[in-house]
Amino acid sequence: MSNSNDEKNITWHSGKVGYTDRCQQLDQKGIVIWFTGLSGAGKSTIAVELEKELLKLGKVSYRLDGDNMRHGLNSDLGFSAEDRNENIRRIAEVATLFKDAGLITLASFISPYRKMRDFARERAGDDNFIEVFVKADVEICAQRDPKGLYEMAKKGEINNFTGISAPYEEPIDPELVIDTTELSIEESVKEVLSYIEFKESKS
Ligand code: ADX
Repeated sequence: MSNSNDEKNITWHSGKVGYTDRCQQLDQKGIVIWFTGLSGAGKSTIAVELEKELLKLGKVSYRLDGDNMRHGLNSDLGFSAEDRNENIRRIAEVATLFKDAGLITLASFISPYRKMRDFARERAGDDNFIEVFVKADVEICAQRDPKGLYEMAKKGEINNFTGISAPYEEPIDPELVIDTTELSIEESVKEVLSYIEFKESKS
């Protein structure tokens, strides 16, 4: 079976309202802020606080989160490498749509494979994509263990657990590294906010 769009008889329809119009209307730049890191590193916590700060600043944002997306759109997926890749592929497409709508899109997913993070960057466009490596050693994440999952993984009660029985490929050249063993949540949020402001002032 061919995947070619020509053979499937589908054509892309551009509307009369585009990315630039939507950004102008919202008075902001639609971007994707992609948080990657181990479970328990602090991705979701930072994204939740950042979303609140953006609201206070009058910015329109939307947060996509690993655990939440797996309740709905991705409820059919597990944690094999193949399923994780499909998880991130779908999220990358959704994040790109939200970005096109002019929103500051916060995506927090372990996203352990470089290849798929690069795919998300390619779909959103390099200029509109900020990769944030939320860094904390696996030992620290396992000590924090907010959901008790590291404990279960060590006992072999969960398979393919990132950092224990499945790989995590660290970003090579992310826009930002937030080390949550050194920075508080408040400081982490400030770092991301000042990076966005720096990006906006350049564009
Ligand atoms: S990803 O690898 O496909 O990007 P995603 O961010 O969607 O993962 O989901 C990670 C969340 O699922 C974790 O925060 C954790 O709560 C839960 N989870 C359940 N099983 C696993 C597992 N085997 N490995 C990692 N996280 C798991």
